[in-house]
Amino acid sequence: MSTKFCELLLKWDQKGNDRPMPWKGEKDPYKIWLSEIILQQTRVEQGWAYYERFVKKYPNIHLLAKAKDQAVFKLWEGLGYYNRCKNLLFTAKQIVTDLNGKFPNTYENLLQLKGVGPYTAAAIASFAYNLPHAVVDGNVFRVFARYYGINLPTDSKEGIDLFNKIAFENLAKNKAGIYNQALMDFGATVCKPATPLCSSCVMNKGCTAFLQNTVGQLPIKLKVIQKKKRCFDYFFFIVGNTFYLQQRQPGDIWAGLYQPYLLEPERLMTSTQKEVSDMLENHLSMDVPILKIELNTQLYQQQLTHQLLTVRFTTIYLQSVPTILSQGKWIKLTQSAKYPFPKTIKDYLEKDASFV
Ligand code: ADE
Repeated sequence: MSTKFCELLLKWDQKGNDRPMPWKGEKDPYKIWLSEIILQQTRVEQGWAYYERFVKKYPNIHLLAKAKDQAVFKLWEGLGYYNRCKNLLFTAKQIVTDLNGKFPNTYENLLQLKGVGPYTAAAIASFAYNLPHAVVDGNVFRVFARYYGINLPTDSKEGIDLFNKIAFENLAKNKAGIYNQALMDFGATVCKPATPLCSSCVMNKGCTAFLQNTVGQLPIKLKVIQKKKRCFDYFFFIVGNTFYLQQRQPGDIWAGLYQPYLLEPERLMTSTQKEVSDMLENHLSMDVPILKIELNTQLYQQQLTHQLLTVRFTTIYLQSVPTILSQGKWIKLTQSAKYPFPKTIKDYLEKDASFV
């Protein structure tokens, strides 16, 4: 069963796949690793420009290892899943200090790196060294579930074992890099989740799901992720030409990134000026005069894998720094672009904020 799929995929890649990408054909394991970490939870279209900025600013692992954490976080800003960025820094430093800057060149050693799981290790091993390791992720589950009509859930032990076995059997062992890249591209552009291009697909004569009309039902997953709903009520406090920022702490999303003053209520109620000033009294026992409150009724939403965030921003002009916020960071408005922010805050500052 394996040669057919593999041959068709490689043929499709040569004839039907014209997706150019800056990391395709790259042989430098550092750059491949960088691209794969960026693409772990990010679409190609979004990751592309980030990859190019990273490669330009940090063309080799030594420069990345030497960089200031905050500068790297700033470059990562807007990509989300910041653990990836932390791991990137950790791993760069580790490779430079422990391995003399030489990237690991086996699958097993790649797997030891922080932030590198089986998928990323297989991608780096096959792209950089042409080692015969098959990538297996959501795209690959989908392609094989449909092609072979597999009903086992992709999040069950038996399912995962079977998909791994099939992925390895189909792998073009002597062209692992080209094959893996082709499979990623095929899953992303042809065998898509919602609107696959079945009628023009080169695999359709051998595709079980297409022949049995079950494409829409496959792949099968047991668990549906229940997203936790959270409300972030942010307050930009402004004193003269400075504003208050705090750094988020470890143990929650966005650790290490910056934000304005945050309250996290159960629900976001519409507020009046009076309610906001009462809240400031109650929560913060403001001991300075409030000059102006700018209410913003717009709610912003951000989806994370396990959370749905609803975010609101209010701007408050104060005459001077209140005692309760005197220990925090007061940043010049003109310096705000230097700090790494979560995406919603970055977008708000760039598009909607009236004070920067
Ligand atoms: N997703 C993860 N790695 C990728 C790659 N090399 N090309 C396209 N999509 C990807």
